Amino acid sequence: MTRLSVEDIQVSYGPRAALHGLSLHVGEAEIVALIGSNGAGKTTTLRAIMALTPPDKGKISFGDTDISRMSPPGVVALGIALSPEGRRVFPQMTVEENLQLGAYLRKDKNETAATMKRVYNHFPRLRERRLQMAGSMSGGEQQMLAIGRALMAKPRLLLLDEPSLGLAPIRVQEIGQIIKEINSEENLSIVLVEQNANMALRLCHRAYVIESGSIALQGTGEELASSEHVRKAYLGI
Ligand SMILES: Nc1ncnc2c1ncn2[C@@H]1O[C@H](COP(=O)(O)OP(=O)(O)O)[C@@H](O)[C@H]1O
Ligand SMILES: [Mg+2]
Repeated sequence: MTRLSVEDIQVSYGPRAALHGLSLHVGEAEIVALIGSNGAGKTTTLRAIMALTPPDKGKISFGDTDISRMSPPGVVALGIALSPEGRRVFPQMTVEENLQLGAYLRKDKNETAATMKRVYNHFPRLRERRLQMAGSMSGGEQQMLAIGRALMAKPRLLLLDEPSLGLAPIRVQEIGQIIKEINSEENLSIVLVEQNANMALRLCHRAYVIESGSIALQGTGEELASSEHVRKAYLGI
C-alpha cells in the first residue's frame, strides 16, 4: 500500500523553481532514500511534504488524503514528522523537555509517556542524559534527540533530513542501525535524505536520485549502488 505519493510537484522560492515536476512514492513500512548533491532539492522536497513550502503545481497525498493544501500542524497531526537538517534541538532545554515538545500536537497526551519509553529504548544514551541540557551533548547525541523528538509525534511517516551530517563514521553506522531498527520494530515508513549515498543505499529498500530539482534515477538500493552514474557521481568509485 502507498503511504505517501508525491505527483509532479513544482516548488518555488520567489520566481525561481527549486523542484520541477518531481514525483516519488513511499510504501507501507518502507525506507526510501533520497540522495543528491548539495542544492539538488532534497530539503525542499521534505519541506513540501510538511507543507512548509507548499507546491505551486502537482499533488501530495498521504494515504488517501490530499495534503498539498494543508497547514504544517495539520500535516503533523495526520502522522508525518520531520527531523530537520542541522538537528535544531533547543540547546537550553533538557533532553526530556525537547522530547516532550515533539508530542505537542498529540491528542492522546496520556499515551506520550509510553512513546517516550519506546524512544528511550531505541536511544539508551538519551535516557542516560535525560536531564542534561541538549546543547551540551555531542553532535551524534543531538542527532539522536532530533530523531527521538520526531518520533514523539507518533508518526506513520518519518522524514529524516541528513541524519549523518557532520558525524564521525562510527556514529553514522550507529544512527543507521537505529534507523533500521525503528523501521522494522515500529513498521514505520521512512524517507531518508542523505548526501552520504553509501550509507543511504545500504540502508534503504528503494532510492531516488535527485538532480536539479527532479528525479534522475530510481531503483532498489542495490540497483542504484551498481549504476555507473551513481558510482561515479555519488559514491566516488
Ligand atoms: N529559503 C530559500 N530561498 C531561496 N532559495 C532557496 C531556499 N532554500 C533553498 N533554496 C534553493 O533551492 C534549491 C534546492 O535547495 P535544497 O532543497 O536546500 O537542496 P538540498 O537539500 O538538496 O541541498 C537550491 O538551489 C537552493 O539554493
Ligand atoms: Mg538539504
